[in-house]
Amino acid sequence: MPGRRAARGSGFAPGVTLEVRVAVGDGDAAFVKSLGRECAMSSVASVRPARESNVRAAFDRLYDVVVDQSHVTFIAQRGGERVGFLLLLDQLPDEVTLSPQGFVAYMAVKPGARGRGVGAALLATAENEARRRLLPYMALMVTEENETARRLYERAGYKTERRLLCKPL
Ligand SMILES: CC(C)(COP(=O)(O)OP(=O)(O)OC[C@H]1O[C@@H](n2cnc3c(N)ncnc32)[C@H](O)[C@@H]1OP(=O)(O)O)[C@@H](O)C(=O)NCCC(=O)NCCS
Repeated sequence: MPGRRAARGSGFAPGVTLEVRVAVGDGDAAFVKSLGRECAMSSVASVRPARESNVRAAFDRLYDVVVDQSHVTFIAQRGGERVGFLLLLDQLPDEVTLSPQGFVAYMAVKPGARGRGVGAALLATAENEARRRLLPYMALMVTEENETARRLYERAGYKTERRLLCKPL
């Protein structure tokens, strides 16, 4: 399930490997919570401005909801240092069709490690795990203005299925 990738073809220095593994223990959980809070503002759209403290609290709540149900947390590690994570829900059927699916609840890569394929590797590993569990689809939500994330998902083959609309009153 987890994978180890040689640095060849990646954006890392020769000899540095990128490993994606399943999270274990308190150190991994603390990393996910801290990086998730740090990155949470990337999901805020200009149509609904928000206080950073609220957005961070919302990430804490998302994390608690995820760990309370069936899920897998993947950790990306480069040369022994944690650089990213992905939270995968594996028993959350699509609400419209009831199709079984894997659902990416959240993913993030440390700012200094971005643009070198860590996000793509996390996503590919989660997809492989979903296939292994015979889940026929992978789904996720992404903020329209989060162009980096949208490009990552589009490159990986994701299509827009629905839109979440909002209007200030
Ligand atoms: C979205 C996010 C997870 C992407 O992570 P990442 O590790 O930078 O993703 P990748 O490196 O796989 O891809 C990002 C870019 O790097 C480029 N890239 C990937 N591998 C590369 C390599 N070996 N050499 C050079 N560039 C490379 C990709 O082409 C892509 O470029 P583009 O955005 O201009 O098309 C990261 O930006 C992030 O954590 N954002 C904040 C949190 C967030 O928004 N999460 C998503 C919530 S839905």
